[in-house]
Amino acid sequence: MAGGESRGELWHGRFEGGPSEALQALNDSLPFDRRMYREDIAGSRAHIRMLTDVGLFDSVERDRVLTALDTVEQEMADGSFVVAPSDEDIHTAVERRVTELEPAGAKMHTGRSRNDQVATDLRLWTRGAVDDVSDLVVRLARTILARATEVGDAQLPGYTHMQQAQPVALAHHLLAHGWALMRDLDRLSDSRRRVDVSPLGAGALAGSSLPLDPVATAEYLGFAAVFDNSLDAVSDRDFVAEVLFDLSLLGVHLSRIGEEMVLWASQEFGFVELDDAFSTGSSMMPQKKNPDIAELARGKAGRLLGHLTGFLATLKGLPLTYNKDLQEDKEPLFDAVDTVRLTLLALDGMLNTVGFNTDRMAEAASSPYAAATDLAEWLVVEGTPFREAHAIVGALVRRSLAGEGSLSDLVSADARLGPEAAFLVEPGVSVTRRTTRGGGAPSVVVDELDRFRERLNQLAGG
Ligand code: ARG
Repeated sequence: MAGGESRGELWHGRFEGGPSEALQALNDSLPFDRRMYREDIAGSRAHIRMLTDVGLFDSVERDRVLTALDTVEQEMADGSFVVAPSDEDIHTAVERRVTELEPAGAKMHTGRSRNDQVATDLRLWTRGAVDDVSDLVVRLARTILARATEVGDAQLPGYTHMQQAQPVALAHHLLAHGWALMRDLDRLSDSRRRVDVSPLGAGALAGSSLPLDPVATAEYLGFAAVFDNSLDAVSDRDFVAEVLFDLSLLGVHLSRIGEEMVLWASQEFGFVELDDAFSTGSSMMPQKKNPDIAELARGKAGRLLGHLTGFLATLKGLPLTYNKDLQEDKEPLFDAVDTVRLTLLALDGMLNTVGFNTDRMAEAASSPYAAATDLAEWLVVEGTPFREAHAIVGALVRRSLAGEGSLSDLVSADARLGPEAAFLVEPGVSVTRRTTRGGGAPSVVVDELDRFRERLNQLAGG
């Protein structure tokens, strides 16, 4: 079925008939690539400036086309832009409208292809998105730092295998999530270097017979580097895959925070009380207060992983150079960025306002058995080989659990340990013992807080 006569404007010389409706419906990307209009217009500005510099555009026409580009940008921004049936994607839409406003717009595609154009737009967009997401990660990390600073010496059980292991400072636990975010920031800034390379001037795939200056357009657009190979420039979407990975791993970190908050907010743990503004109720059970933000932080990670693996699958079979499959780069990337932004903001609000039930945490951390490793290490200092010490304390724990007496009494009564060692099982003592660098004792967490603050300032500034 032939579509409207007005379609196929860009290649009308070669075609007699118009495109079918089915082709248009599948092929058109304007509904989603429209959000790159600013980047598309910026790319055109840089391109026609360069064309003027090298004598392919006259400066009067350049100024008229620049004015038309300003108008189109305004129309896009205020919603007054009217989409024409021929507008296949953002590139054709902008060019069509500019040319309507100013006939010299017909020259703006000189030496350019949508292949280098779309790669340019998406790199510009991604660079901005990486910066936005990084700012939100910094914000969340600052919240974690503030909460970790505020909780002072509060302690809770540290867990392995979801079994109480050794007590640690609450600040230490919170910062553990913070350090993961530091790595996310580092990764995003590392990826950003590879995003920040201009593909403009690669043409459809092979460069140009015209005297284009790709270095000049890169400079106009503020790119840090320029492509080296035109074939690679139009077909490389590593930067998309890489940022999708960064966002996926960040999403996984947010998911782990979320999972812990879900557990901590449960009646069984009772470690936190969520603020009303950051929790929801049940439509049926009046007593419920649900940690939906934490659950969604956990749930959204699945979607992020899907975008990453889906896009890698799109890429894996593609021969050089541009193939239309690459149009599938934008929706997953846009959605991943939107998803991560929403999650970061909501999680930040939740962590900022959550109440820590430090009495409940301290009570959970006060189990005498949590000091078992300290008892074994006490024996080591007295000269007992660790394996033997482990067995001695293990036997005391077993006897205590079997009802032979409290661990404290059994320790006092044991000739190898004695009353001096029994103080280790007193509530609040064990947590103070692990004072090695990066350990969980409140006294060394003070240094960790300093290092975290310093690292965060470095990453936030850089
Ligand atoms: N909408 C296309 C995309 O997103 C733009 C590039 C089209 N290039 C082409 N030769 N058809 O990839």
